[in-house]
Amino acid sequence: MTLPSLTPLTSEPVHAPSGPPLLEASGITVRFGGVTAVKNISLAVRPGEILGLIGPNGAGKTTLFNALTGFVRASEGRVTFDGRDITHAQPQVRAKMGMARTFQVERPFEDLSVLENVLVAAFLKHRGRAAENHAYDVLERVGLADRAAQPASQLNLARRRRLELAKALALEPRVLFLDESIAGLNPPGQQEMVALIRTLAQSGLGIVMVEHIMHVIMSLSDHVICMAFGELLAEGDPHDVAAHPDVIRAYLGDDHD
Ligand SMILES: Nc1ncnc2c1ncn2[C@@H]1O[C@H](COP(=O)(O)OP(=O)(O)OP(=O)(O)O)[C@@H](O)[C@H]1O
Ligand SMILES: [Mg+2]
Repeated sequence: MTLPSLTPLTSEPVHAPSGPPLLEASGITVRFGGVTAVKNISLAVRPGEILGLIGPNGAGKTTLFNALTGFVRASEGRVTFDGRDITHAQPQVRAKMGMARTFQVERPFEDLSVLENVLVAAFLKHRGRAAENHAYDVLERVGLADRAAQPASQLNLARRRRLELAKALALEPRVLFLDESIAGLNPPGQQEMVALIRTLAQSGLGIVMVEHIMHVIMSLSDHVICMAFGELLAEGDPHDVAAHPDVIRAYLGDDHD
């Protein structure tokens, strides 16, 4: 496997929705003791743009998310949001500025209702009745309004994923990080989530999504980054990345194709 291929894979300009990048990261490296989980990764996200992040298990995708959202410290590199250097900012500071994420393993407060789970996040933005109205609005957006009073523990997987998304949206982000929101869902559940993500991007939200399901990445992403062993393997237009020999090789034998 040749690592890394830094040259653009296409001479076509990549479709980039609008304006200057909201989020920019350059040369991000994350080391855990002797393990380099992420090595020299750079990316940019514009309002309304969907950036797809793919790569085999253990490639470093979640660790890169953690570095961008402040949950782990980058050993090297720089992150800016809306022109401000946030390389050393705490997760809650980044959240306040407009970055929200979902977790690969969703973890709602099981005993709280769906509405209460979203309220926890909504209260960071609004007070009293305004927070409640906001939480309801978010539940409407993700199609969970009719489940507002149910305990989170009673939701099926597809609805738990949408609750995870609702909690992130309640923070009114400008860039949203989705860590495998679609993997494991049945085809109708996948289609609903794809439609929802597309609508969110059309409303101007920048989205960074980790996903293993290739046709989902292909249909949603404006730009794709493929990582393997922490490094950049290929990036560019989704179709070009999917057809890249190194990318195909990295996925061979992997059971997530
Ligand atoms: N907190 C940590 N301490 C030590 N090593 C870690 C830590 N978090 C991740 N790693 C290691 O970093 C590497 C990248 O892991 P990461 O979870 O980022 O991969 P991933 O691409 O998200 O994988 P998956 O597709 O399975 O979710 C792996 O080798 C993992 O074991
Ligand atoms: Mg992961």
